[in-house]
Amino acid sequence: MTIIKTLVAVIIFTLVVGLGVIYSGIYPIGADQRHSAVTFWLLDTLRKRSVARASEDIEVPSLGSPQQLLSGGADYNDMCAGCHLKPGVTETDMTIGLYPTPPDLTVPPEKHDHDHGSGGHDDPVVIAKQQYWVIKHGIMASGMAAFGPTHSDERIWAMVAFLQKLPEMTPEQYQIITTRR
Ligand code: HEC
Repeated sequence: MTIIKTLVAVIIFTLVVGLGVIYSGIYPIGADQRHSAVTFWLLDTLRKRSVARASEDIEVPSLGSPQQLLSGGADYNDMCAGCHLKPGVTETDMTIGLYPTPPDLTVPPEKHDHDHGSGGHDDPVVIAKQQYWVIKHGIMASGMAAFGPTHSDERIWAMVAFLQKLPEMTPEQYQIITTRR
């Protein structure tokens, strides 16, 4: 009985302290602050587990047609390059100021210093599913918006197809492929 009482007391105490911290306003909420190791672990694990589970049953269509690359490339240049970079550009105001930092999508997923989106996998099918899911649904409380409400599945898959080729592109090839026709 005493064990249960102690446990309940500990839980109530933790809740009160937690709520106290939240309501007191002392938590550093600015994007120019780094997360503590605990907050980082929580958010990182939550994101990876949730994206992995939500995307596991997605069927990946055939990717890589010239039409997909042209559509995905123009969309990427218009909507994504400011945060996720393009060949020859290593930083923007967004990559410096946003936290979490948007992953650099011009480097192959397996070379990311953190495995954003790919959940630690380097299987291209798993990466494609997860990229599609993230582009469609976004990531809550980060700079990553959901593009599903405004873009068809076809256009989202075209962006995934483009992302597969992006790490191999030179600045000149990028320029040609992403020009809107
Ligand atoms: C305002 C900045 C911003 C824009 C614009 C943006 N993203 Fe993101 N994106 C982010 C951030 C930040 C993350 C990481 C979120 C996290 O880790 O919690 C992210 C994560 C991702 C991921 C996760 C997978 C990986 O490999 O890292 C993909 C894929 C992605 N974005 C694709 C896109 C595409 C495609 C577009 C354009 C349609 C886009 N993003 C536009 C900020 C942005």
